[in-house]
Amino acid sequence: MRHHLLAGGGGFVGSHLADRFVAAGDRVTVVDNFSTGRRSNLAGLAGHAAVRVIEHDITTPLPAQVLDEHYDTVLDFASPASPDDFKRIPLEILAVGSTGTRNLLDLAHRQGARFMLASTSEVYGDPLVHPQPEDYWGNVSSIGPRSCYDEAKRFSEALTMAYHRTLGVDVRIARIFNTYGERMAPRDGRVVNTFVVQALRGEPLTLHGDGEQTRSFCHVADEVVGLAAVLDGPDFLGPVNVGNPGEFTVRELAETVLELTGAPGPIVTIPLPGEREGDPARRCPDISLARTRLGWEPVIPLREGLARMIAWFRDHEDVTR
Ligand SMILES: NC(=O)c1ccc[n+]([C@@H]2O[C@H](COP(=O)([O-])OP(=O)(O)OC[C@H]3O[C@@H](n4cnc5c(N)ncnc54)[C@H](O)[C@@H]3O)[C@@H](O)[C@H]2O)c1
Repeated sequence: MRHHLLAGGGGFVGSHLADRFVAAGDRVTVVDNFSTGRRSNLAGLAGHAAVRVIEHDITTPLPAQVLDEHYDTVLDFASPASPDDFKRIPLEILAVGSTGTRNLLDLAHRQGARFMLASTSEVYGDPLVHPQPEDYWGNVSSIGPRSCYDEAKRFSEALTMAYHRTLGVDVRIARIFNTYGERMAPRDGRVVNTFVVQALRGEPLTLHGDGEQTRSFCHVADEVVGLAAVLDGPDFLGPVNVGNPGEFTVRELAETVLELTGAPGPIVTIPLPGEREGDPARRCPDISLARTRLGWEPVIPLREGLARMIAWFRDHEDVTR
């Protein structure tokens, strides 16, 4: 039985990972300040003997309650990750990607634990290479509205590599591409949940710009299998893309959501808001590394993943609020 320290385990992706660890018979200590996550995401694990939940901001020194235990792995999934957050709390995002990641790396170093960073496709910025392989260095603005997140994650990756190279910390870096599914916060400005909530409310679906920008969408159930493969891979491969290479325009996504919900729409286009400046035109992972070295690839088609998410939102979220 392993013990995982899962920072950000109260969030969308982190809570699904916590479920997976517990199902495998492991122990999990979740550390989360619930700034963007929700305690309800962990409702299924409430009272479970293998789970501890500690409310704490990882940009401040880790409390004795955390330090007193031994961990086999330390996972850094604590970061606000939505465009609304980039506008609302940029300083918190920069702090969690620097001091927060460092606090977790120090813990992993002291304990000889494996460290895993949840990085992002945003490190590629508005990419000039398609699809994006891990050795592409990106096209990123250091001063644009998304820079607080993009540069924080790039710094987190640099910190992780420095602890690996100079202190010998055993590390893993996953670059997560757009992930969607059950437990996404209903209103945080990300595209899939925005469309699902608009459709379930019977509102028009709003496309930014012409809707021809493309994204790849990975269902969270596929994503966590890929993340576990990166964590448990025998060798450090450098950063590994974990996402779904199926590429769809945002307009196609909106049309599919309307079809699956039976909502009337319509789909309307609105000018790209100022804070969306720098939104990449295309984003699609090259997952050759994960396929060949980890034997992982996503298996859930977009329509099936969306149907699962819509059913969950119907059951769990009061979208009329
Ligand atoms: N979901 C995606 O499509 C996606 C894509 C790329 C990268 N990621 C990365 O995956 C991780 C999880 O993302 P998510 O989509 O689940 O977002 P989320 O907002 O649902 O989860 C992030 C969690 O971190 C917690 N947190 C934030 N700041 C913290 C702090 N200072 N101290 C302690 N906890 C803190 C939040 O409360 C939340 O529970 C993030 O690191 C994110 O950058 C996600």
